[in-house]
Amino acid sequence: MGEIQKVGVVGLGAMGAGIAQLCVEAGVDTVGREVTAELGEKARDRIGHFLTRKVEKGQLDQSARDEAVGRLTLTTELEDFAGCGLVIEAIVEELEPKRELFAELDRICGPEAVLATNTSALSVTEIAAATTRPERIVGMHFFNPAPLMPLVEIVRAELTADEPFETAYAFGERIGKTPIRCHDTPGFVVNRVLIPLLNDCIRVLDEARVTPEDLDTGLKNGAGWPMGPCALVDLVGIDVHVHASEALYEKTREPRMAPPPRLVAMRNAGLLGRKSGRGFYSY
Ligand code: 3HC
Repeated sequence: MGEIQKVGVVGLGAMGAGIAQLCVEAGVDTVGREVTAELGEKARDRIGHFLTRKVEKGQLDQSARDEAVGRLTLTTELEDFAGCGLVIEAIVEELEPKRELFAELDRICGPEAVLATNTSALSVTEIAAATTRPERIVGMHFFNPAPLMPLVEIVRAELTADEPFETAYAFGERIGKTPIRCHDTPGFVVNRVLIPLLNDCIRVLDEARVTPEDLDTGLKNGAGWPMGPCALVDLVGIDVHVHASEALYEKTREPRMAPPPRLVAMRNAGLLGRKSGRGFYSY
């Protein structure tokens, strides 16, 4: 299969908008789908804002910025993915909505199209099983914030064929990421390590009676982390982290995977981190 000419991104929340930003910056025509036109516009504004910051900092020409934003077409219709060689899904992190979406994409997209999920902790194989082309389904797992974090995990599901797998890998490189290849196991590579590690960090808050500020100072200055664990969970979203922990715990039954009660209570109280204005810190 030749180079991808047009890419689709389903769901333009923080991750989807970040992925769409990478695609348009790399010169790829991109169709972004949100459920309402207003949400689509919000995502385009977010992308425009971050690209404007690059112009202001001398990292991008104004004309290149405008061309990049111009490469993004917004839609609310999945039918508009018909001409895409690759579609990357970044919708709500729940299995059934993802399976329903992939069944729809399978119906709409050409037989050569590669369909990718950005799931962080669900099974790519189970998502692929909702389609008639499981050999063309892969995981492309980006890290938050997608435009800044270099890694993308290219995940091979049980029936993924070599060619679509390598197409996804090459596309990851083309948009400036550092891809790694792995198999479809709970949490893949990084979350398999990072989620229990962050859970341990949160448990230490109570065990060592350390404040979130001091814990973050500890890991930044004692372990070289770019940001502390409490700030990181706030960035990822406490609801997203709890959900990923629950999914990993369900699959592995390892106690360290289970979300600490303190995080569950925060999630239940609506303290979701940066996106809600309050988590361990106020924003
Ligand atoms: N999208 C696009 N651009 C963004 C952005 C975003 N979300 N956030 C920031 N930027 C741009 C801004 O324009 C900013 O410049 P400005 O402040 O002058 O406007 C520019 O990037 C640089 O931002 P920062 O000054 O905040 O960059 P830092 O050098 O401080 O680095 C960081 C920020 C890259 C987030 C760094 O702190 C880091 O590496 N943190 C760790 C993050 C991490 O571990 N992420 C993984 C989470 S786990 C995950 O995602 C898995 C999932 O499955 C849950």
